[in-house]
This record gives sequence, C-alpha cells and structure tokens, in this order.
Amino acid sequence: MNEFLNQLAFGWYPYFAVTVLVVGSILRFDKDQYSWRSQSSQFLRRKQLSLGSNLFHMGVIVLFVGHLVGLLTPINVVDGLGIGHGFKQLAALVVGGIAGIAALVGATLLLHRRLTDPRIRQSSSFGDIAVLVLIWVQLVMGVGTTYWTMQHLDGTEMVRFMGWASGIVRFDPGAPALLADVAIIYKLHIVLGLTLFVITPFTRLVHIWSAPIWFLLRPGYQIVRSLSPVKRPHYSLTKGPAGAPAPSFGGSAVTRAHSESGGT
Ligand code: HEM
Repeated sequence: MNEFLNQLAFGWYPYFAVTVLVVGSILRFDKDQYSWRSQSSQFLRRKQLSLGSNLFHMGVIVLFVGHLVGLLTPINVVDGLGIGHGFKQLAALVVGGIAGIAALVGATLLLHRRLTDPRIRQSSSFGDIAVLVLIWVQLVMGVGTTYWTMQHLDGTEMVRFMGWASGIVRFDPGAPALLADVAIIYKLHIVLGLTLFVITPFTRLVHIWSAPIWFLLRPGYQIVRSLSPVKRPHYSLTKGPAGAPAPSFGGSAVTRAHSESGGT
C-alpha cells in the first residue's frame, strides 16, 4: 500500500474518526435530544426482532469488549501476566469467532426484516438501512479475518495490531507503519470500523452511548402479587399504606403525603 495512503488510513483517520464520534455526539445531544434514540420498530413487527436483536447485540457486546481489551491492553501487561501470545491469539479467535458468527446471524435476520417487511421498509430512513448494511459488511469482513488469522496462530499479527492501537493512543508517529504489510482484509476491516465511529453521531447508532449498563448494578427487588381474591383495602403496592412511608425497594423512603405534595 502506498505510504501516504497507509499514513492517511492508519495514522490520521483514527484521530479524525474519534474526534467526530465524541464531538459530534456531544453536539447532537446538545442540539437534538429528542432524536437521541434507537428508533425501535418493535411495534411494527415483533417477528424476527427478538432473536435477531438478541443474537446481534450479545455478539456485538462480546466483540466490543474483546476488541477493547484485546487491542488496547499493553503488550508488556500481557507478558507480565504470563499470557502467551499464541494462547491470546487462539482465545481471541475462538471467542471472537463465535461472537462474530452470532452477531452476523443476528444482523442478517435484522437486515432481512428491515428490507422485506413493507411497513418497516417504508418507515426506515436511508441512514437506518445504511447502518445495518455497513455493520453486516463489517461483520462479514471480521469473520473473514479469522481465515488469515489461522495462518499465524503464533500471535505475530495480533502483536502488530496491539502495537498499532496502543501507538495511536500514545500519539506515536511510528504506529501506522506497523500495519503497512498486513493482509488487505484487516486494513479494510479497520477502515470500515473507524467509519462506523464517524457515522455514529448522525445515525441511530448514537444509542450506543445510552446502553443501560446501570441495570446490572441497580438494587434487585421483586414485586409479589397475591393470587388470593382477598383484597387488602388499605394497601397499595406503589403508594403503600396511607400516612406510612412508601415501600422503598432499595431507594430512599418518603412518606406518601410528602410524595404527593410534590416533595415540598
Ligand atoms: C475501529 C474499529 C475496529 C478495529 C480497529 C478492529 C480490528 C480488528 C482486528 C485487528 C481484528 C483481527 C484480530 C486478530 O486476528 O488478531 C478484528 C477481528 C474481528 N472484528 Fe474488528 N475491528 C473494529 C471494529 C469492529 C466492529 C465494529 C465489528 C463488528 C460489528 C468487528 C468485528 C470483528 C470480528 C467478528 C472479528 C473476528 C473475530 C475476532 O478476532 O475477534 N470489528 N478486528
């Protein structure tokens, strides 16, 4: 690959992509919060959505964490922990491969649903379809890389990718040269991955920032409703008995009177 193009794609484009992602998302949040959503089409057609969406999201979340940890962990930390390069490469291949196939099957179902259901097609913008097509192509290329990865299971290529990613984070001008000789499929995969960063603030992909991860940490509670026909006249599950503190379910407790007066 031409030296200038290599510098452009793997030296400058990553900074451009991350800048557009961060600044663009902040500006969209500031200017147009009502458009900040995933634009679910579940009410138009539930069929195919649950399976497709679950497979896709579970696969992509594993890939996201895998890419983040796999590419950005400094190599001396990996060595310090005594993790062999061959082992790490194999683990990335197996875990990433399974997650990639799950995400690809899910994305195929979602794409099929979006293109063939007339109501969903009608309510989809160009951006909705383009995002899904680009992610699908990205997954095909990602899964495709596993063929090349299997040619060097000793982890040598993986070390290059790690060196490039950490070099970009450290503003090391030597980083792009590390990718000059890798197979074209990796290059296309990385450029398209960065392009997904670029389009995120302008599409439904912004909902990535709003992933409800705090659900995992919220205090657990269980609502139990009695099947017995006997009514408990003075108790409401949501409001609690009149005059007494409402059930708190792990949050702070307030009296019903206090709550109904608007907290004044
Ligand atoms: C800037 C963003 C991205 C970069 C730099 C990147 C980089 C890479 C690299 C270097 C590999 C090969 C790993 C190896 O064999 O050692 C890979 C594999 C893969 N990528 Fe990406 N990728 C990016 C975004 C994405 C996205 C957005 C997806 C999915 C939507 C994805 C899906 C995959 C899959 C399925 C594989 C194969 C399994 C694996 O090795 O994990 N990648 N990626």
